Amino acid sequence: MIAANRIHQLRDEIRRHEELYYMHAAPEVSDADFDALMNELKALEADHPDLLTSDSPTQRVGGRPAEGFATVEHLQPLLSLDNAYNDDDLRAFDERVRKGLAIETAPVYVAELKIDGLSIALTYDEGRLVRGATRGDGTRGEDVTANVRTVKAIPLSLKHGPAGRFEIRGEVYLPKQAFARMNQEQEAAGEPLFANPRNTAAGAMRNLDPALVAKRGLSAWMYQVVGPEGAGASKDAPLHAQMLRDLKAWGMAVEPHWQECNGIDAVIAFCDAWRDQRHDLAFETDGVVIKLNDVAMRERLGTTSKFPRWATAFKFPAERKIAMLHRIEVNIGRTGAATPFAVLEPTVVAGSTISMATLHNPDDIIRKDIRPGELVIIEKAGDVIPRVVGPAHPEAADRPAPWVMPTDCPTCHSPLHKPEDEAVWRCENSSCPSKLRRGLEHFASRGAMNIEGMGESLVAQLIESGLVKSLADVYQLTAETLEGLERMGQKSAAKVLREVDKSRRNPVWRLLYGLGIRHVGERGAQVLADHFGSVADIQAASLEELQQVHEIGPVLAEAVRTWFDEPRNRELIARLQAAGLTLTGERKVAPAGPQPLAGKSFVITGTLTSMSREDAQATLEALGAKVTGSVSKKTTALITGAEPGASKTEKASALGIATLDEAGLLALLDSPS
Ligand code: IVH
Repeated sequence: MIAANRIHQLRDEIRRHEELYYMHAAPEVSDADFDALMNELKALEADHPDLLTSDSPTQRVGGRPAEGFATVEHLQPLLSLDNAYNDDDLRAFDERVRKGLAIETAPVYVAELKIDGLSIALTYDEGRLVRGATRGDGTRGEDVTANVRTVKAIPLSLKHGPAGRFEIRGEVYLPKQAFARMNQEQEAAGEPLFANPRNTAAGAMRNLDPALVAKRGLSAWMYQVVGPEGAGASKDAPLHAQMLRDLKAWGMAVEPHWQECNGIDAVIAFCDAWRDQRHDLAFETDGVVIKLNDVAMRERLGTTSKFPRWATAFKFPAERKIAMLHRIEVNIGRTGAATPFAVLEPTVVAGSTISMATLHNPDDIIRKDIRPGELVIIEKAGDVIPRVVGPAHPEAADRPAPWVMPTDCPTCHSPLHKPEDEAVWRCENSSCPSKLRRGLEHFASRGAMNIEGMGESLVAQLIESGLVKSLADVYQLTAETLEGLERMGQKSAAKVLREVDKSRRNPVWRLLYGLGIRHVGERGAQVLADHFGSVADIQAASLEELQQVHEIGPVLAEAVRTWFDEPRNRELIARLQAAGLTLTGERKVAPAGPQPLAGKSFVITGTLTSMSREDAQATLEALGAKVTGSVSKKTTALITGAEPGASKTEKASALGIATLDEAGLLALLDSPS
């Protein structure tokens, strides 16, 4: 057989098995047989690179994007949903719908399970997956195409789907089993547990390394088609139920338990049934989404600024149990924040055993009148970490004494402080072993310096033994000192040292994030690194210079300044530099120079060919201009790339606002005055 034919045959075969496995949970072949097909295809494609196409099943793990994620504009904004918490709310929703439509009869609704994942918007062009974007702020999301391509439930090409370019929306989620497995791994590595599948899925999807994303076992359910005229719901499928069937026929994974409901009573019955049944599902659902079936009716109802009027989300009530609260302990976090937590008699709530619960802050404990030594009500919503609602018997005669917040740090015994206007108590001792311990856990964590093997248990030993008194001491560790620790053989010690050494070459943002500067998250660290290029330049930047950086707010700027003003922190940086860490990177944004475009405001739409939209935005901003997401009277000009958004161009022309094509933009950037 000639190679091209065999390649086609293999691709079809592999796609069919992927669909059977991931969408129908009914595999026909063993994993080994599946791998054999995949390996044969990989080998053939390697021999015939001209036959390789982007939708081949071998191409799920794409190249690693160089930095961060680009921002992309959604075809139409991703709206969120109004919530309903009980039958009355559902009936009120139904009333509003019927009033809006001026109908007496019961409308047909489609009830779907609300998947506890993260929204995703997939763009298909001529049947091929060309883009995957997160929800972002609803108008603009992050381009996570490379990661989306690793999700096997998302087909890289559609079967008999419509032509043209359109979006398919749905939810990427982490199946319960995959979530449990990830938390087992976290626990084994001594890393903190993930709170819920939604956060974990969102975290996984925002990972910069698609190969890692591929390992997470993410899956997806899709529920909406959004497209220009001619494609998708409104024209071809006047009923939502039909659209769901179409999606399935195109090879999309559609959660199968959706139901057409004749009127709100049937919807309420559906919600009631799934309140318990949902525990048997392989994924987490936190409610039911109720949508009007008839698309023409939806159009008549329209949307408010935030929600469609034709849909609502029913949230399942949190599960509650009664448990004995043995005692309240205080945990010291890496910023010194002292957080009380409840130590409970282990109790099963919503399918898992709970023995600890967060209590937020002392005021909250007093307000709720939670007292150790008595029965309390505990609640678990979508989260793994539950909360204490209040005492089970507040009226009891002989209750134990109320709890009092300790005045000293449980670890270093220095006094705890609480600023007047804050609810949080803090240990201010900068060498408090608890702070250092949490700080080192964070420093070494996957999202920061990614030092594999340096999890909770090793960190605890390093701090307790006094081997690490400052983050910089990590780089002084030797095989001899490590081998003296518990459960640390020659091999593991060597591995940890290799990991430590590898971390010296991390990009600057990882270090910036790992330092644990207040308010500096992963994103903030990346923005700072991109803008200033080096730790030295950040250290030298004034508060004003920091505040001028796009995306850096006053609180973050101040926290960075305060951190670098502390001599002990500057000494830490000097020691890290001496230890050979990478403290300089590539500067991605021009420094603030003259601002000839100050006071001007631009909107960019469509695809630019000479640069990414983000670069265009950054360059315009560096010249003093503002770049916003929507056209208004204040817009100076609309910059239009290829395939500009129709609503933006229409609005600009209605308001008489100038448009600038890519050549015009380049000319403007060339001589901006
Ligand atoms: S429909 C305009 N259907 O819930 C309609 N959303 O609370 C938009 N979600 O942002 C959404 N399962 O991420 C819809 N079956 C489902 C859903 C679902 C989960 C999420 C979605 C949305 C959020 C709204």
